[in-house]
Amino acid sequence: MGLERITVFGLGRVGLIMAVCLAKRGYEVLGFDVDSNLVERLQDGETPFYEPNLSEYLAAALQKNRFTATTDPSINSRSDLAYISVGTPSLADGTIDLSYVEEAAKTIGRTLRDSRQHQLVVVKSTVTPGTARNLIKPALERESKRSAGTDFAVCSNPEFLREGNAIHDTEFPDRIVIGSDDPAAIEKLEKLYREFHGAQFPPIIRTSFENAELTKYTNNAFLATKVSFINCIAGIAERIPHADVKTVAEGIGLDGRIGSKFLNAGLGWGGSCFPKDLSALVSLSKKIGYDAELIAAAVSTNRKQPHKAVELAKQALGSLAEKQIAVLGLSFKPETDDMREAVSIPIINGLLAEGAKVTVWDPEAIVEARQIFGDRIEYATGALECLEQADCCILATEWVQFKKLRPETFIEKMREPVVIDGRRLYDPSEFRAAGIRFRAVGLGPD
Ligand code: UDX
Repeated sequence: MGLERITVFGLGRVGLIMAVCLAKRGYEVLGFDVDSNLVERLQDGETPFYEPNLSEYLAAALQKNRFTATTDPSINSRSDLAYISVGTPSLADGTIDLSYVEEAAKTIGRTLRDSRQHQLVVVKSTVTPGTARNLIKPALERESKRSAGTDFAVCSNPEFLREGNAIHDTEFPDRIVIGSDDPAAIEKLEKLYREFHGAQFPPIIRTSFENAELTKYTNNAFLATKVSFINCIAGIAERIPHADVKTVAEGIGLDGRIGSKFLNAGLGWGGSCFPKDLSALVSLSKKIGYDAELIAAAVSTNRKQPHKAVELAKQALGSLAEKQIAVLGLSFKPETDDMREAVSIPIINGLLAEGAKVTVWDPEAIVEARQIFGDRIEYATGALECLEQADCCILATEWVQFKKLRPETFIEKMREPVVIDGRRLYDPSEFRAAGIRFRAVGLGPD
């Protein structure tokens, strides 16, 4: 192997996944994080969040001595490559906080001061166009007292992994995008990925820092806009008797120019990327003199979407005061415990504001939910208990476990069989035929 020793700065959802996947392929991976508690837990083999197969990958990496988590950045001085994968959270004005990225670059720079290594520094964190060239590279040069190009190299290499599929997406990406002003740096990183992916090597784009950075934002903006678009059509369909957005989405999805993915209408998109990245793109555009109104509209459409669940509940039950509402699904999407920007949060807050009593269940996100809602809501220990004596059930996340629930179960457990399908998981005709008052996003009145 060409590059053998790799440091990953920032052991969050991107960095940790990258680290364990590299370790699996035989690289020696050092994981640095400022959070000593996180580092200790990782060294004990404990995963800080839920992600399919992560525990197994971490255990194997530790057992084979291919992964070490540490709070000591000096371990980086002998590495061939350093990934920057720290967070870039949203600020109040929609722009992103680049201070963690800058700090990571400075830390790496200091470790390179006396190093003889020609290290490749790779920016994986999502950063606005211009950041690698104007912030990261200068910080590295200042702190290392060495020159980019001659003494070390910098690449921008955005990450497109999805939560819940993170390991799969890392091992089998659709494409690789590498940006730099240094062709040798691009070549070096491409070589690593050629080794990593072997025969499965995906298409690669070699480009400028800025194109790589903008590609990441554009990718998320496009996908989120696609979802907001179908949610807009859902709003129209809901007002047309016998219309159903699901069939319409199927119809347009078969057009090869459109494609069927990301056309599932629902209560809106959440998570750590779409909301943050779209706001950042809108803010950046404004700053450089462009009004990105299409993307701003995708954001505002999405902001309204969760309230639809409360509206449908009110239409079905009249006043929600003292009504018992079951909310199934809390995470922003299935197969994760992540509740960042999850639509369940505004839905539950909206229900509580109407005076409803809320009981929730989620296969992975209950711990997270307790931190957000405390004792303002009840926490069930399973889907069936959640439905017990409910006047209405709102399905907010399409966990596969919920798909298995039969109409009879809702009828048997609930006080009133009113079901609001916020993710289009169930067959409306089956539920209605069973006697359930069934409402769903994008489903017109019968
Ligand atoms: C996203 C991007 O897909 C990924 O490439 C990037 O690296 C990070 O951001 P992620 O946030 O994990 O990944 O979730 P994703 O599967 O894209 O879903 C985002 C949100 O859109 C979820 O809330 C999901 O429920 C919603 N969604 C998605 C829909 O409502 N309908 C769809 O058809 C697809």
